[in-house]
Order: sequence, then structure tokens, then C-alpha cells
Amino acid sequence: MDSKIISPAVIGRLPRYYRYLGDLKDEGVERISSQELSELMKVTASQIRQDFNNFGGFGQQGYGYNVEYLYNEIGKLLGLHENHHLIIIGAGNLGRALTNYSNFENRGFIFEGIFDQNPALIGKKIGELTVMPMEEIESFILAHSIDIVVIAIPKTGAVAVADRVVNCGIKAIWNFAHTDLNVPDGVVVENVHLSDSLMKLSYTLSTKNNSVD
Ligand code: NAI
Repeated sequence: MDSKIISPAVIGRLPRYYRYLGDLKDEGVERISSQELSELMKVTASQIRQDFNNFGGFGQQGYGYNVEYLYNEIGKLLGLHENHHLIIIGAGNLGRALTNYSNFENRGFIFEGIFDQNPALIGKKIGELTVMPMEEIESFILAHSIDIVVIAIPKTGAVAVADRVVNCGIKAIWNFAHTDLNVPDGVVVENVHLSDSLMKLSYTLSTKNNSVD
């Protein structure tokens, strides 16, 4: 495969393809045409073909795609062929919810530790994990080959925490704090803002209502 730049929009659609193909695979479906996938996912068949052509087309032959092959190839593109080891900073509501959501582990995202600055939380169990003090972050990252850090603390502390983990060699941050992190080149940050998604929903709702009036 050549190393052309893939648009963020295409990359953003890959997880959805991966989910649908995973379900099809679990149902025992072996082959699927772009037309059938299009009807299932409610996107056009030409969009699917265009998306897949970015990656060489995934060898559609005769009648459609081989589901398991396509699932595995998209999984590789998404970096899911190997496990990722994560820690969470912040053992509040969000940190606890993420830790307790077991489906991440099924996808190869292993939560190895959770940290907080509040002494009252240190030593408390959250699922399988025990909350650890912030002083132990650096040694833990090194000892457990951590490759992704989840920031689940208020924005006031987020930038300093990000700097700290980047200094330990962390190259990927899943940021839930409502602030932009200023990280060096080579470090990737995925910002997650549930409220953005809610505002998009609200926009669509109000546009729909206005068009009915
Ligand atoms: P919370 O108040 O329940 O928990 C925050 C935890 O972070 C506390 O345990 C606190 O001791 C710890 N903490 C604060 N500063 C710290 C620091 N500098 N170092 C280490 N630990 C620190 O809050 P919740 O509900 O868990 O939310 C956490 C943050 O995530 C909030 O700032 C909230 O705005 C944000 N959030 C973002 C969402 C999103 O979609 N991006 C969704 C929900 C929350």
C-alpha cells in the first residue's frame, strides 16, 4: 500500500465499518457486496468503494468482500492487531465509568492503572484497578509499557499532566478535559467532547424543526 495521506473523514468512518463487519462476522456472514453493506450502514455503495480504494480496495472479487478479511484489514489500519496499554488520570465519575466499561478490553485496549491527586481516593478499588498516587505515574508508565494516557481531570490540571506524561515518552493522549493540549510533534491527541456531539444533535433537531415550521 502506498503512503498517500488519507483524509480524516475517511479515517473517521473506519471504526463504524469495523463495528458492522465485526457483527457480520459474528453472525457467520462470509461475503458481502458493497451494495449490501451500503443498505445495512445507510451510506452509498460508491462512498464505501471510494473509502476502501484509499487502501487498495480490499480485494473485492466476484461477489463482494470477504467479511473476515475486511474486518482484519480494517482492524490493522486502526492499530487493533496489537493490544494497547492505557492509564487513566482522574478517578472521578468519568475515570470510573471508563475503567468499568469492559468492551474497551475486548478491542485490545487494556486499562493498566488509574491515578488521582485526591489522597482520599488512593487505594480505593475501581473494578480490577486500585487508585494510585500521582507520584507513581512515571515509574508505572515505564514498568508497564504504557502507550496511551487518558486524561479525565478538569482542564485546570490537564496541560501540566499532559506535559508530564509526554516527558515520559507517551505518544498518544485520549483527552476528555475541555482544553487544548499543547503537545510536541509526534504526539497524537484525540479530544473527546460529548457535549460537541450533543450540540450537533441539537443543531440537527433545531434545523429540522425550523424546516417544518
Ligand atoms: P470528577 O470531579 O468526578 O472527577 C475528577 C477527578 O480528577 C477527581 O477525582 C479529582 O481528584 C481528580 N483531579 C483533579 N485534578 C487533578 C490533577 N491535576 N491530577 C490528578 N487528578 C486530578 O469529574 P468527572 O465527572 O470525572 O469529570 C472529569 C473531567 O472530565 C471534568 O473536567 C469534566 O469537565 C470532564 N468531562 C469531559 C467530558 C467530555 O465529553 N469531554 C465528559 C465528562 C466529563
